[in-house]
Amino acid sequence: MTTHYEVRRGVAVITLDHPPVNSLDHATRRSVVDGIDRALADDDVVAIVIAGAGSAFSAGADISEFGTAMAQCEPSLHAVIRIIENASKPVVAAIHGVAMGGGLELAMGCHYRMATATAQIALPEVHLGLLPGAGGTQRLPRLLGLEEALNMIVSGTSVPAGQLSGTPLFQDIVEGELLPAAIAYAREVACAKVHPKARDRVVQHENAEGFLAYARQAVAAASKQHPAKAKCIDAIAASLKPFDEGAAYEWACFEQLQATPESRALRHAFFAERAATRIADVPADTPTRRIDTVAIVGAGTMGGGIGMCFLNAGIPVTLVDTTDAALDRGVATILRNYEASASKGKLTREQVGQRMELLRTTLAYNDIRDADLVIEAVFEDIAIKQSVFHRLDEVMKPGAILASNTSTLDIDRIASFTRRPQDVVGTHFFSPANVMRLLEVVRGAQTGKDVLATVMQLGKKLRKVAVVAGVCDGFIGNRMLEQYSRQAGLLLDEGALPEQVDKAIEHFGFAMGPFRMIDMAGNDIAWAIRKRRYIEQPDFTYSMTGDILCEQGRLGQKTGAGWYDYKTGDRRAYPSAQVNAMIVQHSRDLGLVRRRIADVEIVERLVYALVNEGARILEEGIAAKASDIDVVYLSGYGFPAYRGGPMLYADQVGLYNVVRSMRRFANGYHGQAWQVAPLLQRLADAGRGFND
Ligand code: 3HC
Repeated sequence: MTTHYEVRRGVAVITLDHPPVNSLDHATRRSVVDGIDRALADDDVVAIVIAGAGSAFSAGADISEFGTAMAQCEPSLHAVIRIIENASKPVVAAIHGVAMGGGLELAMGCHYRMATATAQIALPEVHLGLLPGAGGTQRLPRLLGLEEALNMIVSGTSVPAGQLSGTPLFQDIVEGELLPAAIAYAREVACAKVHPKARDRVVQHENAEGFLAYARQAVAAASKQHPAKAKCIDAIAASLKPFDEGAAYEWACFEQLQATPESRALRHAFFAERAATRIADVPADTPTRRIDTVAIVGAGTMGGGIGMCFLNAGIPVTLVDTTDAALDRGVATILRNYEASASKGKLTREQVGQRMELLRTTLAYNDIRDADLVIEAVFEDIAIKQSVFHRLDEVMKPGAILASNTSTLDIDRIASFTRRPQDVVGTHFFSPANVMRLLEVVRGAQTGKDVLATVMQLGKKLRKVAVVAGVCDGFIGNRMLEQYSRQAGLLLDEGALPEQVDKAIEHFGFAMGPFRMIDMAGNDIAWAIRKRRYIEQPDFTYSMTGDILCEQGRLGQKTGAGWYDYKTGDRRAYPSAQVNAMIVQHSRDLGLVRRRIADVEIVERLVYALVNEGARILEEGIAAKASDIDVVYLSGYGFPAYRGGPMLYADQVGLYNVVRSMRRFANGYHGQAWQVAPLLQRLADAGRGFND
């Protein structure tokens, strides 16, 4: 049963009980209607309360039903809301935890609503490329007023119910126990002759047309890739019309949006992120280790950023480094970052103080022996890692987790520097670690399942998106990025310039093109990797333009010059005549006749390079699922959310078409880079996709 029914003091209480978040799937909808029918047929029942079991009232429609016949299988959510609204006995929604999407729409169909002050109220459909489709765009403006409703719906953000107190959305914000208060209220209103319906109200606003025009203009720039925002405004505008007319328009918009590739991609991303936390051979009930204190070895940019993640989560941190000066610099940077947040109003001075209170420093490894987790964030040099892990193995208490933040080195080799490889794991944070959401959790051959489960759980506590990767050079993200950057370089040899490449891929939706990105990260990092590759894999070819750039001292923003020119105090990238001339000269030196390269070729070559390496990563088991690769690219590499990640994008293009393009590129310059990954070929031949 997905609801419970009981009668308390003449009030029927229908409790949604569909863990974990009481989504309104078909069974739950039917069960609500059964409860309403039963209550209406019982002469001893004078009123009805709808509440939620567990941590939520309801998180809304069941997203996994979208696009299936089940979503509209009667009773649809519309039918449930209609039945509630037309009930002859008063229906009160008792809201705690979250009331989101269809959950809030159902509550707005009730005659009365009561909530705890902390209940999170939202219509977040826009994040899924949708709009509220069960009356949300019609009832919320009637209950909250046009402006507030529009802001909530277009942003999709949640608001604590306490902040909406005094509006017709809530008859009461309850301080004590919610259910007894809702039952008492339901008894009180039972004898009223008529019960209010949100649909009968009129939308309040002094200058509705002017405000709507302003709102349309505000979302116009993003509307091409996010059609949902503009549609939300259109549907909200329809709330000025008679209810049924507006509701019919809302539903038509919902159906259109549901079929867009943007919405499919965003729904994929929603489930992919959650699926990433499930590891096939590590069951959900795997015991975890307690992490109350953390030590970080290395107080540099990375170590400090990682430290901030823990401080933000209220976990005490001890920073270890080799000199007082390094520690002082690390602490000063952390404080500066927090003060910058405080000056922007993101943190209070008190919160800054609380975080800094949790921070300690030391030069002595002995001082961190009792930490539950230690993360090494020192220079990427295996000899340095070896000495750090030897020392950690000597001092750390038994059962402590020993993590490395390495972005390229072999975790199994690092684990072999200790006598406890089961306790060693990779935690690859992305820079700036306190901002970036992605955390690659690198599972070594001997990493304990409890260690893995603990780190994944910790990821959620740190508000990171944690994805498990196997051991290989570059793990998931950077290994794929190398192929992407390599294509970007080869495009320069053939005829493109950095600005054209960046603009083409940014137009596709990437937050930043490859050349702007590498200028920010520092060209010397990729240069060091290439130098290593020249020795390890001499037949692996790159454009030499990146090396020439570094030899000229143009390392990126930090040297004021990279692929672009930079001005002091200005982070904008200005195309560089000097660099462009160097690129053209290099083509000449290679004997290449430069050609005009279409933007569509640039995008295909960059994205399909990711897809091909992603397929290899999948086949080798470095990533467990195609959707894990998508999550890495969406949360760590600026891949556009509305395209769902490289693997879903390839599925949407059709793998057959992807392979055809790759075969074409294979006949071009350095075509050997385009050997189709066996898994990709097999799936394309079978007419299947990565995410099937
Ligand atoms: N439908 C289906 N499954 C849902 C769901 C939903 N609306 N909301 C959450 N879930 C599932 C998650 O997939 C996850 O499943 P898993 O355990 O199998 O991986 C589980 O519930 C727990 O979710 P979280 O890990 O996200 O739990 P949190 O406690 O961190 O967050 C939450 C809870 C804030 C409710 C968050 O899950 C959330 O934001 N959910 C989506 C809310 C939403 O977008 N609602 C609108 C739905 S569309 C709609 O209602 C259309 C209507 O207008 C017609």
